[in-house]
Amino acid sequence: MKNHVWRPLFLAIACVALLLVVRSVYVPDDFGVYGQNFTYGYHRLSNIQEWKDFKIKYRGKEYCRECHEEKVEANLTSHHSLLECENCHGPAVDHPEDPELLPIESSRLLCLRCHAFLPYPQSNRADMPSVDTDNHNPGENCIGCHNPHHPDLEEM
Ligand code: HEC
Ligand code: HEC
Ligand code: HEC
Ligand code: HEC
Repeated sequence: MKNHVWRPLFLAIACVALLLVVRSVYVPDDFGVYGQNFTYGYHRLSNIQEWKDFKIKYRGKEYCRECHEEKVEANLTSHHSLLECENCHGPAVDHPEDPELLPIESSRLLCLRCHAFLPYPQSNRADMPSVDTDNHNPGENCIGCHNPHHPDLEEM
């Protein structure tokens, strides 16, 4: 056979060889098939431990009970019971060691994020108790009148 037919073949072989070399350098040793099938089993084994070690940022309000029992009780017996504490205070990862204090946002904006009236008649948002941002006691902080942990109106 002629040279010009062999040459592309050698090139192809060289490419495959290069690919194998590169692969052996870059693919981690523990990459393989674990378990019965390729669909879920084809992965790097040490990745499982990495995800187990991954820190969960949000803890949920039962975690807060140990130290902030009063706040948790107030929250659970109020119209804010479906809110998580961390929705207003941010993620409690490593709290109370570091950060020792979680942020406290006291501005109107914290509340208006959920309570500003939005004219979406088709959405569940229309069922939210909402206020007219410009006319509901403008300039005053909501928490001056409403308790964020227990905002129930009948007890005002
Ligand atoms: C192991 C005890 C412990 C747990 C659990 C805990 N906290 Fe705290 N928290 C503290 C301590 C201690 C402080 C700092 C001292 C203080 O002001 O009470 C603090 C402070 C705070 C502050 C700031 C108070 C301030 O005066 O600035 C907020 C907000 C807060 N925690 C919210 C939470 C939330 C939300 C959770 C649950 C996701 C939680 N904490 C879980 C112990 C705890
Ligand atoms: C709707 C938003 C919101 C939710 C939900 C919320 N907080 Fe707060 N939290 C606030 C605001 C605003 C303040 C500041 C209150 C003030 O200055 O009077 C505060 C203050 C605090 C403080 C410190 C000051 C104090 O009053 O003693 C702690 C501790 C705290 N919250 C814990 C919690 C815990 C625990 C939960 C969940 C059970 C929770 N919060 C849920 C908004 C919220
Ligand atoms: C000066 C005190 C005061 C301030 C400040 C205040 N409110 Fe009110 N709010 C009230 C009173 C009183 C009511 C009950 C009577 C009414 O509907 O006006 C009420 C009612 C509400 C309701 C229930 C509306 C309904 O249709 O059921 C929501 C939600 C509310 N406020 C949220 C807020 C938010 C969010 C802020 C801050 C942006 C805020 N309030 C600031 C006194 C206050
Ligand atoms: C993450 C969303 C969210 C945030 C932030 C939030 N709320 Fe609410 N709020 C709700 C929901 C949801 C309800 C109750 C809906 C229901 O029970 O139908 C509610 C109910 C209320 C009510 C009516 C209680 C009643 O008796 O009907 C008041 C007043 C209120 N919130 C005030 C506040 C204030 C003040 C803040 C800021 C400190 C705040 N909310 C922040 C979601 C939120």
